[in-house]
Amino acid sequence: MTSPKDFNDRMLSLGLARVSEAAAHASALLIGRGDEKAADQAAVNAMREQLNLLDIKGVVVIGEGERDEAPMLYIGEEVGTGQGPEVDIALDPLEGTTLTAKDMPNALTVIAMAPRGTLLHAPDVYMDKLAIGPNYPKDVVSLDMTPSERVRALAKARGVKESDITVCVLERPRHEDLVAEIRSTGAAIRLITDGDVAGVIHCAEAELTGIDMYMGSGGAPEGVLAASALKCMGGQMWGKLLFRNDDERGRAKKAGITDLDRIYSRDELVTADVIFAATGVTNGSIVAGVKREPHYLQTETILMRSKTGSVRRMIYRNPVK
Ligand code: FBP
Repeated sequence: MTSPKDFNDRMLSLGLARVSEAAAHASALLIGRGDEKAADQAAVNAMREQLNLLDIKGVVVIGEGERDEAPMLYIGEEVGTGQGPEVDIALDPLEGTTLTAKDMPNALTVIAMAPRGTLLHAPDVYMDKLAIGPNYPKDVVSLDMTPSERVRALAKARGVKESDITVCVLERPRHEDLVAEIRSTGAAIRLITDGDVAGVIHCAEAELTGIDMYMGSGGAPEGVLAASALKCMGGQMWGKLLFRNDDERGRAKKAGITDLDRIYSRDELVTADVIFAATGVTNGSIVAGVKREPHYLQTETILMRSKTGSVRRMIYRNPVK
């Protein structure tokens, strides 16, 4: 097994940016066309093609689904040239398929890479998520607190009133009680229709996005991707897998998870240094969406390394053939 110290994150990071850029380019022509599947497929194809050019022995641990339901980038698929470090890959070729199909903000292509065995093999179930930005005391909020206790604790730590706190929540019927309780504290809520990887990342740049805290349930795979981003940018996050039936509990067991009630901290979701890249598909508050000009396509990518805490924003322009 490749040692984490041989994870050449500095060299690999540019390759990772190319992978997420390629996926965004490929889905660009499908923005606003009402076809989620086609947009996702275009991103999957491009991401896979670029990943296979990288000198890595990669395994997809968070991907498009189980082998029998996903023809490409399925969980367990080996990617890369087979030369280089052994790495885990977590990806979502199009995070926000509906956002893309409807040309709504914050659709991203997302990918993270870390040494083999260091990303949680999260099954495709829901995860209860809680995230805040950097510079707060450790564990100032927790999943064990009620939503209103979290708002009060964060306001106290920031030295502001509860009404100065903004919480981001996915707009879903299952979150009605959560939303009502947060509102009862006086805090504001930014409701998003999809895309909770972006929702969590917003907390790391509160001064730009205006979002202090993320709460609520969403995909567990997206939870690992969001934790990878926060590990690079700073910020705290916790996640607890949620199971609705035995089939979902079975998926967790298959992924090697034995404690079904465990609350994972950010560094338990991602246990070693990680690199993360996300490219805007539609315009968003983290990165701009794909810009289509007559002769070229332009993308913006955020590329980050947890080892250094470095965050790059890269503009890429490519002629349209
Ligand atoms: P897709 O990329 O598959 O469209 O997922 C979008 C998303 O909003 C995620 O960001 C989120 O974690 C999940 O769906 C929430 O699931 P649900 O729509 O079932 O509430």
